[in-house]
Amino acid sequence: MTVTNAQRAEQARPYSGYHQTWIGQSDVELTRVGPGTPCGEYLRRYWQPVAITADLGEQPKLIRILGEDLVLFRDRQARLGLLHRRCPHRRASMEYGVCETRGIRCCYHGWLFDVDGRVLEVPGQPAGIEEKIQQNVTIGAYPVRDYKGLVFAYLGPPEKQPPFPVYDTLEIPDQIMVPYKAPFGCNWLQVLDAILDPLHTAFLHSRISREQFSEGFGEIGEMKFYERPSGYLGTATRRVGDHVWVRTNELVLPNFTQAGAAFAADGTKARYFGRTAFSRWVVPVDDHETLCYAWANFGDRADPPEYNTPEGLELIEQGELFDRPYAEKQRFPADAEATEGMGPITEHEKENLVPSDRGIVSYRKRLRGLIRQLQAGQEPPHVSDIWAGPVPTYGGDTVLSSPIDPTADDGATLRRMGAAVMKIQFAAEDKSGAVRDQAVIADLKKLEAEGVSQ
Ligand code: FES
Ligand SMILES: [Fe+2]
Repeated sequence: MTVTNAQRAEQARPYSGYHQTWIGQSDVELTRVGPGTPCGEYLRRYWQPVAITADLGEQPKLIRILGEDLVLFRDRQARLGLLHRRCPHRRASMEYGVCETRGIRCCYHGWLFDVDGRVLEVPGQPAGIEEKIQQNVTIGAYPVRDYKGLVFAYLGPPEKQPPFPVYDTLEIPDQIMVPYKAPFGCNWLQVLDAILDPLHTAFLHSRISREQFSEGFGEIGEMKFYERPSGYLGTATRRVGDHVWVRTNELVLPNFTQAGAAFAADGTKARYFGRTAFSRWVVPVDDHETLCYAWANFGDRADPPEYNTPEGLELIEQGELFDRPYAEKQRFPADAEATEGMGPITEHEKENLVPSDRGIVSYRKRLRGLIRQLQAGQEPPHVSDIWAGPVPTYGGDTVLSSPIDPTADDGATLRRMGAAVMKIQFAAEDKSGAVRDQAVIADLKKLEAEGVSQ
């Protein structure tokens, strides 16, 4: 970062427009994701969602991720393949290829490729040429898997492929998980930041726009940030009438995010260890475009099924529809407007971070550390290093009855209550599934009955 003290002094003066026209630098280390970049290498160490399974028909599908153009297809045996876009013969695009019983055939001269990129056929050549090509040429291919309606890919070195991570929220009985994707016309980091920014919920999603979720979101509440073995948490503890509402947002590095319910929790009714509205990855398409791939979760512990519509999925993602008139975007901005409005890659050098940005500061610092470690040869951690089974996560809501005590400092009560609710969840971290749920819920009810001491 290169902001000089003179520039800082100039921008503190009134009418400082002239002095602020310098162009600030973006954080190159955390924002550039193409092949060979430090952050791109780091992100390639993790499974990433690249498509919604139902969007893949009989034709190959052109996709772009981490600055690479790729072709996803399903052969006639229903095996998934993910290949570099260009054919290794004379660079035709495999998006025009034909899916066959085994693999995909290039449209131009009929070379046939298996899902792992090996050349199966080189038709129309003299004897011996096919074998020679098979020995010396492949098309770039990546491992893929279909999991609950999302296609995931691993774009890293084959020998470093980690186990596929399964989070506890992906295995909640009776929960309906609906895949969706949400486009953002900007760098991944500025989309990711919002998950550890509980303050924006009160302003962007409530006071500034309109009540995009519920009235309680307009309360700023007491914010706290936690670092856990699995990632980062940002909690907002709000008073809503006689209730205290502890809402937890979550980031598992590098880019898996969860939050509380969008519509089921509004702080007015008791809720014990409610779980996340979405289980979502913030996936860089390239340096300037991002696609969030997610499941919206419906059921008793997530959002109500009436939001299981195309529009409902967008409302869960950002409180407003994505495609709407400019005048409406101006009047009722949501996450897309806030993040895209920063420009394709924000000028990080021009940010002025404050205490409510602590979560963002912490995770960016850790991200930078992991990227640098990888450059130095140390592989980044995976949740499977810590947990053999489903990874315990936290995104969700707890709402407890706790009438206001007029003789006490309610801010202090909220802070204690928020900390107590999180402590209960941390204490059950070694348990999983229904056993963990029961332990957490029993302790939350006990906390509700006994209250927190002043
Ligand atoms: S360009 Fe693909 S077979 Fe020739
Ligand atoms: Fe938001």
